[in-house]
This record gives sequence, structure tokens and C-alpha cells, in this order.
Amino acid sequence: MIRLTLRHGRRLALCALLTTLSLPAIAQQAILEGERFHPQEGQHGMAATSHYLASKIARDVMQDGGNAVDAAVTAGFALAVTQPRSGNIGGGGFMLISDEESGDVIAIDYREKAPAAAYETMFQNDQGEAVSELSRYTHNASGVPGTVAGLALALDKYGTLSLAEALAPAIRLAEEGFEIPPRFANGLRDARERLSQWDASRAVFYKEDGSLYTAGETFRQPDLAATLKRIAAHGPREFYEGKTAELIAQEMAKHDGLMTAEDLAAYQPTLRDPVHGTYRGYDVYAMSPPSSGGAHIVQMLNILEGYDIGEMGFNSARTIHVMSEAMKRAYADRAEYLGDTDFVDVPLEGITSKAYADELREQIDMGRATPSDAIAAGDPLPYESNETTHFSIADDNGLAVSNTYTINFSYGSGIVVDGAGFLLNNEMDDFSAKPGTPNAYGLIGGDANKIEPNKRMLSSMTPTIVKKDGKNFLITGSPGGSRIITTTLQVVMNVIDHDMNVQSAVSVPRIHHQWLPDEIRIEEGISPDTIGLLEAMGHTVSQQDAMGAAQSVLIEDGHYYGGADPRRSTSSALGL
Ligand code: DON
Repeated sequence: MIRLTLRHGRRLALCALLTTLSLPAIAQQAILEGERFHPQEGQHGMAATSHYLASKIARDVMQDGGNAVDAAVTAGFALAVTQPRSGNIGGGGFMLISDEESGDVIAIDYREKAPAAAYETMFQNDQGEAVSELSRYTHNASGVPGTVAGLALALDKYGTLSLAEALAPAIRLAEEGFEIPPRFANGLRDARERLSQWDASRAVFYKEDGSLYTAGETFRQPDLAATLKRIAAHGPREFYEGKTAELIAQEMAKHDGLMTAEDLAAYQPTLRDPVHGTYRGYDVYAMSPPSSGGAHIVQMLNILEGYDIGEMGFNSARTIHVMSEAMKRAYADRAEYLGDTDFVDVPLEGITSKAYADELREQIDMGRATPSDAIAAGDPLPYESNETTHFSIADDNGLAVSNTYTINFSYGSGIVVDGAGFLLNNEMDDFSAKPGTPNAYGLIGGDANKIEPNKRMLSSMTPTIVKKDGKNFLITGSPGGSRIITTTLQVVMNVIDHDMNVQSAVSVPRIHHQWLPDEIRIEEGISPDTIGLLEAMGHTVSQQDAMGAAQSVLIEDGHYYGGADPRRSTSSALGL
């Protein structure tokens, strides 16, 4: 493997080439699908999102005098139109905002909540077995959506645009339509069976005769445009108390869904302190519960700080070994301890302490894998392919935004709210339907993450901001279900330990271990020699599909560098 010692952001063209060489299949796929990612440098700001239209809109907002939060909120709404498989107003997420001037880093928790009528065994059959169909593909799969309230809160606290101004590009895209990229057409082709089951979903995503849209055609969403216009005219509470809320409540009532108009009216986003840790002198801020992301990225970094990772080498067997050992231990703790802190006590301080990391590091044998069942017990489940979306935006006012939001699976529950034109999430599957039973990502949970009324389901989303000497330095995060935390970890390590520029840091092959199943999952591009060495240490290594899409921004010496993840062919980083 080539050791990339180029400084961040410099000689990007060469690094893009190295990236292409090291990730042949992924890069070639991106090119075949219509390559649109551009390693970028900017003097005044940078927007990296998973869709080139959203990146362009965000950049334009900043070019016209808006700040990074204005750009982020505008991009968030635009993605709800251009990338309905994960961009959303029917889901939820987390946003970290760093304001260099005040030194504040705040977290907006706009994660979905369980409806008031939700109960612990709602996804179990009469035999007490978890039924995944119920938690994934029914109206009860949806938590009360938080996106509209969360984005509006961000704008209110830090933005300069009105909500109507931030919604205008999304409304235009929904009303006038946009040219369908290959990835969009392919996604709808693959999800056809699931989406076509519901009349409203079929009407939005397929032609009148049920046939597929193809790349290059124009895609319009008049119902969604009308919904966004209502929100622009009446404010964010329209979604929760106005006609949109009525349409959601009607949709639920028609299909025996538990969510009511009262649940919608009661929804509020929450301001939280992010988890804070340090790594080799950098300050790392990431999402606190109800996400597990911040707790475990800091925990893993604490463990890994005890090794000279830079000297051990990027994706060498020794590096992958210690990373996997750290990952296993973190994910075992996740299953036991993590949940919504409004309902359960989470020992956050302990999990993120250097002393606890020292203890865990001592258990790691440099020559031998610790089997997962020696760490704790559980039942592994295969992975599923899914979708969330992350974007990172920074401006030259010292504001940086790291946002991950989702409807859980690609296209969420698959259910469009009739008349409102947007998809509902299936986030309820992120609760543990039954203690010890894995969710769609093979993640196991217990009491801390059991279903309770109005509780937020545990997440892995890890929007992260790394600061250096009080300045915003790296803004990152990713989709990828259980792989989110480890993907984000590796972008941070690639920059800090391996000295990569941000484009390389997001592009190079990644690995993942989540305790159960007991295997190191790798992307294409890890050498057979390395795999052999890992197997000799007792690891099971399994090469599977690409993981995550870590749209990232790095700021150094007043320059803004974008890393658009080539694992999504529509990814784009645009500077100004
Ligand atoms: O909150 C979570 O952890 C999951 N619902 C995220 C799902 C996800 O990232 C799917 N995509 N790639």
C-alpha cells in the first residue's frame, strides 16, 4: 500500500489519482455512473454533500453572503428533494455546530421519538419473537419525525436566512424537477417491489403506468413542493400542527399506525452537549446519546492513542488488528450501556475516560485476536445495505456544521404520506425489539434501548468536528448503519495518524468490526498479505460491499479542502 505523506489538501489531483488506483472498483463504478466528485479547494468555505445539486446550492448560499448554517439547512431541505432515499423531512438526525468565535460546539438532537402509545413488545409476535417486518415496513416502523424542527432550530440559533429563504431551492427543485442521475434511477429500480406496495409511494416514484424513470429524465414532486411551501408560509410548526400533521395523522389512522396528531404536536428537538475527547492533542467533538457515535469514537480513539499508529502504517495487519480489537470492545459496551439519556443512565464519563481505555488496551494481545465470545455473548446477523446521508460545511466566519440525518433504510419504511409527498422513516427498528435480538445492522441491545413511549431510539450516527488549537480543523461523519462510527473513526485517523489529505482520507479502503458478528469486514483494496497475517492472528476477515460515504471538509492555513466520497457517484465537494 502506498504510504500517503502528502500534506492535507495539497496536490489534490495526484491524490485523486492515487485514490483511483487504490479503489479501482469503486472509482470505476463512480465513473461509469457519471463521475461528478471533484476534490476541491476553497478560500472562503466548502460544502461536501452526497449530491452535487445540494453542494452547489450550499456553496451558492455562502457565496451570496449566508453562513455555514444557512448553507447546511438549505442543503438539508434540498437533499430531501434530490435524494429521497435518505435526504428527508420524514426522518431525523443530528447536527453539530462549531462556532470558533465563542468556542461553543453544540449538538442539535432532532432524532425521531417513539409515539406515546409505543410499548416494549410492539414488534414481537405471540411467541415473544421479534418480527422485523413489523419494525421495518409498517406504519408503526416510523418514529415521530424531527428533521423540520431540527433544521429550523439550527437556522433560528445561528442562521441569517429566513426559513422560507432556506426552503426556496428545495421548493424549486420539487416543483420544476431536476435531471435524474443514474444513481437515483438505479435506486428506484432496486426498491420497486417494496415501494410499489403503497399507492402513494408508487404515484410519487414511478410513472403513471408503473414503469421506471430513467437517467436523464426530469423528476418532479408536486405534493412535496406543496408541503415545503406550507412550511415556508407557516413555519416549522406547520409540519407538526398544520395540514401536514393532519395528513400524517390520517395516513397513520388509515393503516392502524400508533402515531397521532398529539405525538406530532408534542415533538421538539433538543439541544445537547456533544461528547468531547482528545486524540494526540486534537479536540474531538461528536454526537452524544441518543447516538452511540460520540461515546464510541472517543472510546476507540482513546484506546488507539496508546499505539504509534502512524509508524505501524495505514491498513497494515498490526494496525487493523488493534483497530478491530478496539472496535469489538466498544461495540460490546454499546450493546450493554447505550440508550436515550432522557430515559436511562449511560456511563458516558467512564466509557470516554482515558483510564478505562488503558484498561481495555491492556486486554489486547498484539499477536492474537480476542474472540468476541470472550468479550461477551450474542447472536450475529447478516448486514443489510442501507442509506443515510452526511454533509459537512464550513465558512470563513468560523462556523462549521457536521450533519447526519436519515430515514434509516434506503427509502425508510417505503411509505409515502398520501398527499404530502414524502417518505416516512423506519427508525423504530433501531430500538431493540427484544433484548439480545439484533436489529437490521446486526446490532444487539438490551434494556437501555428497549422501546418506551416518547423515547428516542439509539443511533450510530456520528457527526464529528475535530478542532486544533481552538480552530475548526476536520468536519466529518458518514452514513452506514453500524459502520458509521468506525468509518468516521478512520477518516479522523487517516488525517491525524497517516497524514492524508482529506480526499484520500475519505477514499481509501476501510475496515469494520462490531463485536458481533466476530469478523473484520473489509472493503476491496486490502492486500492479500495483510489478510493472511490477520487470519494467522485468529481473525476472520470478510470482504464485502463498500462502507459509508464520509463527505468531509478540512481547514488548514485558511484553506478549505473538500473530500467527496467516491462510494456515492453523486458526491460532490465544492469550495468558494
Ligand atoms: O441511526 C442509525 O444509526 C441508523 N438508523 C442509521 C442508518 C444508516 O446509516 C443506513 N445507512 N447507510
